[in-house]
Amino acid sequence: MARKKIALIGAGMIGGTLAHLAAKKEMGDIVLFDIAEGMPQGKALDLSQCGPIEGFDAKITGSNDYADIAGADVVIVTAGVPRKPGMSRDDLLGINLKVMKSVGEGIKNNCPDAFVICITNPLDAMVWALREFSGLPHNKVVGMAGVLDSARFATFLAWEFGCSVKDVNAFVLGGHGDTMVPVTSYTTINGIPVNDYAKIKGVSESRIDEIVDRTRKGGGEIVGLLGNGSAYYAPATSAIAMAEAYLGDQKRILPCASYVEGKYGLDGLYVGVPTVIGAGGTEEVIEIELSDEEKNNLKVSTDAVEELLEACKSLDGSLA
Ligand code: LMR
Repeated sequence: MARKKIALIGAGMIGGTLAHLAAKKEMGDIVLFDIAEGMPQGKALDLSQCGPIEGFDAKITGSNDYADIAGADVVIVTAGVPRKPGMSRDDLLGINLKVMKSVGEGIKNNCPDAFVICITNPLDAMVWALREFSGLPHNKVVGMAGVLDSARFATFLAWEFGCSVKDVNAFVLGGHGDTMVPVTSYTTINGIPVNDYAKIKGVSESRIDEIVDRTRKGGGEIVGLLGNGSAYYAPATSAIAMAEAYLGDQKRILPCASYVEGKYGLDGLYVGVPTVIGAGGTEEVIEIELSDEEKNNLKVSTDAVEELLEACKSLDGSLA
């Protein structure tokens, strides 16, 4: 059987990390694309030379030509500009929307059968725009955010409880912005609801609220610390988990920015929801019962995403 082909659009810090992870896992041959001449080629050469040391067999090439992503099975898009300290993800909308247009056209013309995972911010609006520009079916275009946000929530909870992260199953819904919705009612410590476990461990409700707030602002905390750029290890790891779910037809239920129509009271919006990922792409959006407060929080978050879509439409008439 021919090896799978993984195209990474954007060869910055996340793109390079994605290439390294995908090669180590021998997920397939990798094309690292970027418009900056020499940079993807240099990273591809450097990463290829890890092969003999780490013992992986993967062909890694760098390219500035969309023709080289032809026939890709999976495309992971990180192209665009990251935010700087003091900026919100939404401040990137104008500049990254233009990037999504050329990436969407590159995908449409070269690998229209691929499963496309978008990481570029502001995530929920960019994945929607990328889908529009590429014309791919909605089930083949998805955004990476919920896996990352849930991993942040899980990390902070594990630190607080002094337990293994392996035992924390955390759950974050909604848009990938400061209004995201960490859902404590579906978050468990090896099956024990987190609020029950907090009582057992003497952790106050207000402390859990602080952890929820830190999760919401988790990306910004890293942007502030790095000073130049945003997180890349955990975003890349999250997208690789999604790509593996697709390539391996794993039917994993992952929180992803999926296209939601007729569930959660939504009518054609990309936003973070529990999603089954398998060989069919995003095969099913799972609608879970939410409390009134959680529903309200989700509404605030989805309203914020809808506003961004309106902004996209007014910036690019072809989206209206
Ligand atoms: C993240 O959450 O780390 C990314 O969305 C990058 C950012 O700007 O926060």
